[in-house]
Amino acid sequence: MNVYSEITSLKKRIKSFNKGITIGFVPTMGALHQGHLSLIKKAIKENDVVVVSIFVNPTQFDKKEDLENYPNTLDNDLLLLKAINCDIVFTPNAKEIYGKNEVSEDFNFDGLEFQMEGKFRKGHFNGVATIVKRLFEIVTPTNAYFGEKDFQQLQIIKKLVVKQNLNVTIIGCEIFRESDGLAMSSRNVRLSKTQRSAAPFIYKTLLKAKKIFGTKNADKVMNWVENEFKNHPILKLEYFEIADEKTLKPTKKVISGEKYRAFIAVFAGEIRLIDNISL
Ligand code: PAJ
Repeated sequence: MNVYSEITSLKKRIKSFNKGITIGFVPTMGALHQGHLSLIKKAIKENDVVVVSIFVNPTQFDKKEDLENYPNTLDNDLLLLKAINCDIVFTPNAKEIYGKNEVSEDFNFDGLEFQMEGKFRKGHFNGVATIVKRLFEIVTPTNAYFGEKDFQQLQIIKKLVVKQNLNVTIIGCEIFRESDGLAMSSRNVRLSKTQRSAAPFIYKTLLKAKKIFGTKNADKVMNWVENEFKNHPILKLEYFEIADEKTLKPTKKVISGEKYRAFIAVFAGEIRLIDNISL
């Protein structure tokens, strides 16, 4: 496994590949867990060469303290990647990516960016799209892998590729969960013991919401979920939304043939957890 922190040396390596070789790419912010590894293992199966990037992208954080508290476990990340036979790791610093100009580009994603996470994390998706586009330029992947854990991000990256006519296939990957149902996240390690044992309530609620969605309309399900969290001693609901998978617009009326998903964001103290489920 080779680790590059400079764009020029990584580009040189990529240029040395024979034409026709498939490059699988998994962008991450590190603090790797089994959720990340499930994407990387899939990429390894489906491509000749796999590149993983580890870069905590400053422009996608709307809160300074969230960026400062973001876990950094680089040594362990590299061990995990080596153990599964990852080929190339890209670990640039912010200066290498942004130079002196740590700002994001302004994108138009036809409204996808204004729903859910976009409402609660200002500028987040401009930051994500800026870094992903930049990384695609550097890595020139054939296939790039993104988790459904961040379903809105996945849809936005798909839109980015269409709108900017980028030559890469985006592959969505299922959410990887702990055995108690909690979606794996780099933020989970920051949960206290009490918060950690409360957190599986999020997925349990999604599963029940899915059941109720079969018999009641979206508004009723939303009321039910809001009620479930009302008096919860540890978890605070930020939003629960039932939305069309393509437009991510809140569902008013269910149309047969359309796909719907329930999305949730919850605070455990300062730590923000998100999850979603297909309905
Ligand atoms: P990060 O949160 O590190 O996630 C990297 C990738 O792993 C994302 O595509 C995310 O959806 C996926 N992932 C995380 N937890 C997962 C889980 N439990 N199951 C399945 N996939 C999971 O998302 C980002 O980084 C950044 O926004 C990035 C795309 C790297 C741009 O900076």
